[in-house]
Amino acid sequence: MAKILITGGAGFIGSNIARELVEDGHEVIIFDPFIQYVSPFETDLHVPLTKRFEGIVHKVIIERGDARYVRDVHRILEKYKPEYVIHLAAMPISTISNVFIGEAIDCTMLSTSHLLEAIKDIGGVKRFIYTSSSMVYGDFKYTPVDEEHPKNPKDLYGGAKLAGEILTQAYGRRFGIEYVIIRPSAVYGPTDMNKRVSQIFVENALKGKELVLEGPDTRLDFTNVKDTAHGFVLAMFSENAKNEVFNITSGDAKSLRELVAIIREIIPDLKVIEKPFNSAMPERGTLDISKAKRLLGFEPKYNLKEGIKEYIEFLKQHHKQ
Ligand SMILES: NC(=O)c1ccc[n+]([C@@H]2O[C@H](COP(=O)([O-])OP(=O)(O)OC[C@H]3O[C@@H](n4cnc5c(N)ncnc54)[C@H](O)[C@@H]3O)[C@@H](O)[C@H]2O)c1
Repeated sequence: MAKILITGGAGFIGSNIARELVEDGHEVIIFDPFIQYVSPFETDLHVPLTKRFEGIVHKVIIERGDARYVRDVHRILEKYKPEYVIHLAAMPISTISNVFIGEAIDCTMLSTSHLLEAIKDIGGVKRFIYTSSSMVYGDFKYTPVDEEHPKNPKDLYGGAKLAGEILTQAYGRRFGIEYVIIRPSAVYGPTDMNKRVSQIFVENALKGKELVLEGPDTRLDFTNVKDTAHGFVLAMFSENAKNEVFNITSGDAKSLRELVAIIREIIPDLKVIEKPFNSAMPERGTLDISKAKRLLGFEPKYNLKEGIKEYIEFLKQHHKQ
């Protein structure tokens, strides 16, 4: 049994990692200030935060705390002395990272430096798992994109994530802090509340609203959150993962049009509007997950069709009355 601290652990991905770890018998400490990025008045669906921890809320330790504040970080590490730190805390949405730039820099870069500095000073952490993003690559020059693809982030979100990777590696080299860097992409599934494209499409489809496809042929490596969470768990414990970088995705990008076709099989009456691709966003596609398969034994279990079906079922139960 290991003791694991998850920063940003009350979030969408963090809560799924926490569930898998608790079910495997590990001790989990969640460190999170419970930030809400989308106004509760703007969401069509009522998905309480407690849903994320249904059945496990009494099996994890949940501590309010903010990694922007160095004292909070020291306090939590000294109090619990975790063996592993999974660092998910960040401004998690690319679009608003370019608007709330101060918050994005502080939550993504400053938080990472506070964590690394505290781990260096306090010691005892066997491995630091840093959450990056496929947005560090910028426009994909080829697909599938492997971990060595050039890094040309096109916005603040990708830039801040890449800065965090570099800091993690520098602390690793200089102070011997063992790390793993994980690059997820387009994660979807129950309890996401950040209005990413899959959530917007499914919510709108259920409400009879229009689905606006900005660049219908845009391809994203949609990944079910349970597969993402399992990838983190494998990377945390695997000997082979030491100081490595991994793409953790489904490895099978689908276009927005394909996503809509899947939704239409379940909700036939869809109103769809097609618009040109927003060139401020990077052109993406499939990520190469062969390294994660080879070194971690990572095998995504969900295809998009199964995942979206399950997601729609979940959302149907959580419409606001
Ligand atoms: N969801 C995706 O598609 C995706 C893709 C690539 C990378 N990521 C990264 O994965 C991580 C988790 O994303 P998510 O989708 O679960 O988002 P989320 O918003 O559901 O979770 C993020 C959590 O981090 C917390 N947090 C933010 N700033 C913090 C701080 N300063 N100190 C402590 N906690 C803080 C928030 O309160 C929130 O609970 C983020 O780093 C995000 O950038 C997500």
